[in-house]
Amino acid sequence: MIHADDKTITLELALSVAHTRGFPIRHLRVIEHELRRDEAFNSLLADIKRGIETSGLVIVSGNAGTGKTMAGTWFGVWYSKYRMRAMYWTVSGLMSDQKSWFGKQGDKGEEPFAIAKSCALLVIDQLKAEAGTMYDNNELAEIIDQRYQDMRPTIVLTNVAKPKLPEVLPYHIVDRTRDGGALIELQGKSLRGVA
Ligand SMILES: Nc1ncnc2c1ncn2[C@@H]1O[C@H](COP(=O)(O)OP(=O)(O)O)[C@@H](O)[C@H]1O
Ligand SMILES: [Mg+2]
Repeated sequence: MIHADDKTITLELALSVAHTRGFPIRHLRVIEHELRRDEAFNSLLADIKRGIETSGLVIVSGNAGTGKTMAGTWFGVWYSKYRMRAMYWTVSGLMSDQKSWFGKQGDKGEEPFAIAKSCALLVIDQLKAEAGTMYDNNELAEIIDQRYQDMRPTIVLTNVAKPKLPEVLPYHIVDRTRDGGALIELQGKSLRGVA
């Protein structure tokens, strides 16, 4: 059902998911206008696709500028094309949305954590190793766990190197990438400014 070679994503569709679903507009514009479908990017899409087709957890680890957010955004738009709800948050963005939801009075709308647990595809960006983020990462682990139980795919994007991942996420979570998902390590230099 997923065509990682899908070239029919329009700017209109891309922008429509930006506001409602959190995907970064900067990346959506590139998807429409000047997405580079080189071998590295196509194989990244194919690897992620394999992982999410089995409803698994996909962790993509790579240096800044290696195309992680671009790939995550591509899948978000792709899901939306088939009218499936895909959501994008950075870890810190999700935590602060949840916090402000908690503090709201009256009609609070949907709880961010509940959306993150139930949407068809969750893309979580900027998982970090810095001290003080461990609490957030534990909250995130709970969301990932729930999605795993419910067989909903999750894409986690991080600049934390593979050997250090268990310092950032509980080991059993990282290990779940082996159960149908994928743990993808990107090599290579920053793509920023190359296009
Ligand atoms: N396939 C691609 N086609 C065109 N530009 C790309 C592609 N992948 C990445 N880029 C560009 O390279 C830069 C870095 O990509 P990004 O996804 O933000 O990297 P990361 O999230 O790994 O830091 C961005 O400016 C983005 O626009
Ligand atoms: Mg990024």
